Order: sequence, then structure tokens, then C-alpha cells
Amino acid sequence: MVINMKSAVYPGSFDPVTYGHLDIIRRSAEIFDELTVSILDNKMKTPLFSVEERVKMLKEATKEYPNVKVDSFSGLLVDYTRKNKIGVSIRGLRAITDFEYELQIAQTNRVLSDGHLDTMFLTTSLEYAYLSSSTVKEVAMFKGDISKQVPDFVRDMIYEKYGHGNESQ
Ligand code: PNS
Repeated sequence: MVINMKSAVYPGSFDPVTYGHLDIIRRSAEIFDELTVSILDNKMKTPLFSVEERVKMLKEATKEYPNVKVDSFSGLLVDYTRKNKIGVSIRGLRAITDFEYELQIAQTNRVLSDGHLDTMFLTTSLEYAYLSSSTVKEVAMFKGDISKQVPDFVRDMIYEKYGHGNESQ
């Protein structure tokens, strides 16, 4: 099977997308000819945003990058990458605490894919190393300031979900 090593996937939940994700997207899009950001449709989790909402959000957030596509997948990442002839999965590493989990996923994917899928780790830029979608949601739930963590239009979408409306901006 021919695998295109010039294209990569950046899989994740992106619930919601943060500046940390966008930093990884910008840098990976400079390395690869084509980058597909693919959102996991995880039936086992109840996300804040539907997959459709997250696709729309990611498309808006990445519109300045002509070689970035946004897609979604369900099931195994290796099945998705095999079908789309993608050979590299990108993941961001914020701290050593991410490493153990990420290493396990990367090795599982390598075994499951018979070696067709490798994982490339990019270290998150220091200014975003503390950031996670979960903390963004927690701060936003209590009307906290998340303007340093997500783009303004994403902040508005999150506030709307929590029923804050415009009065909190
Ligand atoms: O943003 P997240 O939630 O940390 O992303 C995790 C993701 C989507 C990369 C990972 O859970 C995944 O690829 N899930 C799909 C199922 C799969 O292929 N699992 C195999 C490795 S255990």
C-alpha cells in the first residue's frame, strides 16, 4: 500500500480548539504539504460541542492555512489513516505527564497499523503549555476570562453554550 508521507493527520477531540492546538496546526502545516485536522466523533463522551459545530469552528480557526483540511472520524485512527493514505499522526506534548499516555497510543497505533502509521510529536510552545480544553471550559463555565486561551469567536461560542450571552464579554 502506498502511503503519502507528505500528508499528516492531527487527530483530537478539539472540544473546543485552543491556541495550543492552533500552534501545533500552524507548525505542522509548515512541515507537511497537507494537514488534515480530524475530529474524533467519540460516542462514549458527551462533548460540549457537536462534531458539526467543531468542524465549523476548526474551519473558521484554520481558514488562513490553505493546506489545512478539517474532517471527522469515528472508530480507530489507523482505519481512518489507512483509508485516507496518511502515514503520520501529529500530537502535541505539553509536559512529561502527557508522554506516558501519548507513547502508549503511538505504540498501539504502530502495532495496529503494521507500521503504516507513525506518530510525530511537537512540543507545545511554552506560552500554551498550561492550556487544555477542559480548563478552558471550566473557567468559561464561571464566566472567567479565556481570551488568552481561545480565539474570540470560540470564546463567544463557549459562553453561548453556558448561557452567558453578551453581558459577560
Ligand atoms: O484530543 P484527545 O482527546 O487527546 O485525542 C485523542 C485521540 C482522538 C487522538 C485518540 O483518542 C484516538 O485516536 N482515538 C481513536 C480511537 C483509536 O484509534 N484508539 C487507538 C489508540 S488506543
